[in-house]
Amino acid sequence: MELSSAPLHKGQLPWRGLLLTASLLIYWSSPTTAQVTVEAVPPHVAEGANVLLLVHNLTETPLVFYWYKGENPDNSNEIARFIPSANVNTAGPAYSGRETIYPNGSLLFENVTQKDTGAYTLQMLMQSFDTTKVSVQFHVHPPLPKPSITSNNSNPMEGEDSVVLMCEPETETTSYLWRRNGQSLSEGDRLKLSEDNRTLTLLSVVRNDTGDYECETRNPVSISRSDPFTLNITYGPDVPIISPTDTHFHLRTNLSLSCQAASNPPALYSWFVNGELLSSSQELLIPNITTKNSGSYTCFVYNSVTGLSRTTVKNITVLEPVTTPSIQVSNSTVKELDSVFLNCSSNNTGISIHWLFNGQSLGLTDRTNLSLDNSTLSIDPVRREDAGVYQCEVSNPVSSERSDPIQLDIIADPTQGSPGLSGDATAGIFVGSVTWVTLIAALAYFLCF
Ligand SMILES: *[C@@H]1O[C@H](CO)[C@@H](O)[C@H](O)[C@H]1NC(C)=O
Ligand SMILES: *[C@@H]1O[C@H](CO)[C@@H](O)[C@H](O)[C@H]1NC(C)=O
Ligand SMILES: *[C@@H]1O[C@H](CO)[C@@H](O)[C@H](O)[C@H]1NC(C)=O
Ligand SMILES: *[C@@H]1O[C@H](CO)[C@@H](O)[C@H](O)[C@H]1NC(C)=O
Ligand SMILES: *[C@@H]1O[C@H](CO)[C@@H](O)[C@H](O)[C@H]1NC(C)=O
Ligand SMILES: *[C@@H]1O[C@H](CO)[C@@H](O)[C@H](O)[C@H]1NC(C)=O
Ligand SMILES: *[C@@H]1O[C@H](CO)[C@@H](O)[C@H](O)[C@H]1NC(C)=O
Ligand SMILES: *[C@@H]1O[C@H](CO)[C@@H](O)[C@H](O)[C@H]1NC(C)=O
Repeated sequence: MELSSAPLHKGQLPWRGLLLTASLLIYWSSPTTAQVTVEAVPPHVAEGANVLLLVHNLTETPLVFYWYKGENPDNSNEIARFIPSANVNTAGPAYSGRETIYPNGSLLFENVTQKDTGAYTLQMLMQSFDTTKVSVQFHVHPPLPKPSITSNNSNPMEGEDSVVLMCEPETETTSYLWRRNGQSLSEGDRLKLSEDNRTLTLLSVVRNDTGDYECETRNPVSISRSDPFTLNITYGPDVPIISPTDTHFHLRTNLSLSCQAASNPPALYSWFVNGELLSSSQELLIPNITTKNSGSYTCFVYNSVTGLSRTTVKNITVLEPVTTPSIQVSNSTVKELDSVFLNCSSNNTGISIHWLFNGQSLGLTDRTNLSLDNSTLSIDPVRREDAGVYQCEVSNPVSSERSDPIQLDIIADPTQGSPGLSGDATAGIFVGSVTWVTLIAALAYFLCF
C-alpha cells in the first residue's frame, strides 16, 4: 500500500463538504459505533521496533479513516487518512514516512523513536456522516545502556566501613535489581536500598559481604546487566590456629607445624621458639628433634593493611619413646591363699602403667591392690582363678610398650572346695539328688500298695 506522493491540500479534497457536515454533526453522533476501540500492540515498544494500532469492533466500513497524533483531531496533526472506497492512503502534515493505514483502519507505525511516545487518535467518518473518534497511547523505550557499578570505597575494612554501591546511569522508567554471587539481594539489617533501588548501602561490612555484585536494569522492553563488581573487604587476621593439635612429639622425628589465620590480604606469618624468631613462613619444619626442642612455639600473624596482629602459643614437649618394661615376681608359683607381688619395672619417667591379665585389661577385685603409681600389683589372698598370664604396659604420650608375659601358677588348697566344680554346679547336683530321693520314695510307696 503506497501513500500518495502528490502533496494534497485541504482545499483540494472532495470530502471538504462532508467534513464540515461531520463536524456539525459530531455532538449528535449516534452511539452505534461507540464500542470501537483501538489497541496498541505492543503498548510498550522498544525504540526501532514497530507498533500496530489495531482497530477493534468495527461494525461497518467508514467512508474515511483519519489518524492524528495527539488526542485532539486537528488538521495540523493529521498523520494520514484512508478512503476505503478508493483504496487511497493520503499523507497529512504529521506524516513521518513510517505510518501506513490498513484497509481495516489499523495503523502500522514502523521504526518508532522515543519522540513517537504519546497518544494517537483515530477519527472515522461513518456512512451515516456521523464521526466517531477513539484514542490510544503507546510508549517507546530506549534500549537500556549497559549499567556499571561504582563504589565510594574500594577497600572497605571489616567492622569499620560502610560502602555505597551505585548503579549507573540513571535512566527513566527503569527498575534496578542487585545480585551478590548470582543471588538477588533484599533489604536486611546491614543492607539498605534506596527507594528506586539504584543505590545499595552495606552498613558496617563484614568479610562475607565479599563477593561479586551485579546490578540489573529493566524497563518494559529490555533487561541489561552490569559486569560483576568485586567487593574486596579487608579483615583480620583472626587468632591463628596451629596444627597438628598434638603437644608431645617423639624424639628423632621431624617436627612439622602449620599456622593458619583468616586474613585479607593474607597474613604475614612468623614463628618464634622460646622467644626467638625461627622462621618467617606459614610452615615450620625442624628435622630430627631432640628434647632440647621442647619449649613454647609462637605463631605470629600480621595484616599489613589493617595493621593488626595476633599470636597463638603452643607448648611442645619432645619425649623419648618408652623402653620395654619387665615384670619381677619373687616366685611365680604360689600356693592358694598366699599373697603375691608383681612389680613392673621401667627405665622411663613420666610414664603411666597399666596391667593386663590374659591379654585383657586387668579387672580389680577386693583382693587386688595397686601401688599409687601402678608399678606394683599385689594379690592377697591368691585364688586359683588368678592363675594366668600377666603383662604390664608402660606408656607416655608418644609411645607405649608391653612387658614379656609372666605365667602365674597357683597350687590349689584342698580345703578350698572341689576343683572344677563351682558353687552353682554343686548346688545343681544337690537339687538333682533331692529329686532322685523323692522319686525313689514315691516308687517304693507305689510298689508297697
Ligand atoms: C487489520 O489489518 C492488518 C493488516 O492486514 C492486520 O494485521 C490486523 O490484524 C487487522 N486488524 C484487525 C482488528 O483485524
Ligand atoms: C530507523 O530510524 C532511524 C532514525 O530514527 C534510522 O537511522 C534507521 O535507519 C531506521 N531503521 C529502519 C529499519 O528504517
Ligand atoms: C561511603 O558512604 C557511606 C554511607 O554514606 C559512608 O558512611 C562512608 O564514609 C563513605 N565512604 C567513603 C570512603 O566516602
Ligand atoms: C556471614 O557471617 C555470619 C557470621 O559472621 C553468618 O551467620 C552468615 O551466615 C554469613 N553469611 C553468609 C552469606 O555466608
Ligand atoms: C583486596 O585488597 C587488598 C588490599 O587491601 C589487596 O592486597 C588484594 O590483592 C585485593 N584482593 C583482590 C582479590 O583484589
Ligand atoms: C638424628 O640425630 C641423632 C643425634 O641426635 C643422630 O644420631 C641421627 O643420625 C640423626 N638422624 C637423622 C636421620 O638425621
Ligand atoms: C616357689 O613357691 C612354691 C610354693 O610355695 C615352692 O614349692 C617352690 O619351691 C618355690 N620356688 C622357688 C624357686 O623358691
Ligand atoms: C593406674 O591404672 C588404672 C587402671 O588401669 C588407671 O585408670 C590409672 O590411670 C593408672 N594410674 C597411673 C598413675 O598410671
